[in-house]
Amino acid sequence: MNDNRGSFSSRLGFILAAAGSAVGLGNIWRFPYLAGQNGGAAFLFIYLLCIFLLCFPVMVGEIAIGRAAGSDAMGSYSKLGNKRWGYLGLFGILAGIFILSFYNVVAGWAFGYFLEISFGDLLNESDFGAFFGNYVNDISDNLFFSLGFMIITAVIVSRGIQKGVEAANKIMMPALYFILLALIIYSLTLPNAMAGVEFYLIPDLSEITAQTIFDGLKQAFFSLSLGMGALITYGSYVNKNQNIVSSAAIISVADTSVAFFAGLMVFPLVFSQNMSPTEGPALVFMVLPQIFHDMGPILGRVVGGGFFLLLCFAALTSTISLLEVPTTYLVDQKKIKRTTVVWSLALLIFIVGLPSMVSQGMVPALNKLSFYRDRDFLTFIADMCDITLTVGGCLMCIFIAYKWKIHNMDHELSIGNDGYMKSFLRKYLHFTISYVCPLLLGVLSILIILEKFIGLENIW
Ligand code: TRP
Repeated sequence: MNDNRGSFSSRLGFILAAAGSAVGLGNIWRFPYLAGQNGGAAFLFIYLLCIFLLCFPVMVGEIAIGRAAGSDAMGSYSKLGNKRWGYLGLFGILAGIFILSFYNVVAGWAFGYFLEISFGDLLNESDFGAFFGNYVNDISDNLFFSLGFMIITAVIVSRGIQKGVEAANKIMMPALYFILLALIIYSLTLPNAMAGVEFYLIPDLSEITAQTIFDGLKQAFFSLSLGMGALITYGSYVNKNQNIVSSAAIISVADTSVAFFAGLMVFPLVFSQNMSPTEGPALVFMVLPQIFHDMGPILGRVVGGGFFLLLCFAALTSTISLLEVPTTYLVDQKKIKRTTVVWSLALLIFIVGLPSMVSQGMVPALNKLSFYRDRDFLTFIADMCDITLTVGGCLMCIFIAYKWKIHNMDHELSIGNDGYMKSFLRKYLHFTISYVCPLLLGVLSILIILEKFIGLENIW
């Protein structure tokens, strides 16, 4: 590995950074609302199945590619495969740029809510649905908060892997777990909390539809930051003495547990106020503020402020990883100075995000895309990125099994893991990466594309 690239200082540093990449808006904003819409526990069941069967093997493979090549996403595919495979890495880097462009807009909303609940008078509103509708259409607030969020991300990434990415995650990840646990304990003590827990934990398998499976798969890939080279990038900064398989297991468990706990916090809150758990994306921004409002001015400020701070920390550890992917690429391939790269990318991505920002009503043409079944531009970009991730994951497995070759992955995984060659896990990874993942991910990706453009009701 080239010495001046830097590396994580320790195994813990890498695990926290990768878990930070994984834990994000996906866990705390998207997971609970998807679970709410897809029958609670039934969704959880499918989600866990996807993690175990499809995501864990992809994660191990992705980190192995990164560490073996010691380069950015494009450089790694080119080095272990050839220039044509390199384009798969480049495609992932572009996907990361688009993810960050809309992700930063939503992170800006969370940032604004945090500041205005903790220090302003947001909780004095009476209609939180209407408030959110106005909020996402207020251009000055949007510009201010989302630019602020991008600047914080850029400051951290510009400091490099150890002093920036690793140091920030070492503070924010423990803080995030702490706030989450405090909020769960509080929400479980509320009246009627157990109805929420039941909805969330007792599966009704008849609720599982094709939609549940699609949503579960897309969510699992997005949540674990898979399929676009984020973990190739972080993997390239991992020292050779580390055990990749067990690190991947810890990262998967850390991410899944945050999603699980977020549900365990949100549903008791929602049920305690007799609200509906099926509100979709509005759950966090419309339903929860109403609940914080009903808690009274002081408690609402503390619990509501705590919740949105949690959301900001989760988002920030992910925006860091999303910005790191194209940064590593430009630093490695084009040999440009890190600070120059980071600030130029931050500005560029902020501009790419503007259409998403104004797509919630400000610009009617972007609010209802006729070619996309009248949905808005932000949803369009987010959906396209979801598809890119599952397709990227599928192609990555094909790359490992049929181009790089599975014995090379074995070799990489056995470094820092003496028992690996003889383990059952090795057989499991061979079987899943060579057959199960490419096949299932391929078929599901095609179905998801059809679902997006034609609609599920028209497929069967
Ligand atoms: N995993 C993050 C979340 O759940 C989002 C994210 C960060 C991501 N980095 C990524 C998604 C890279 C895909 C690829 O919010």
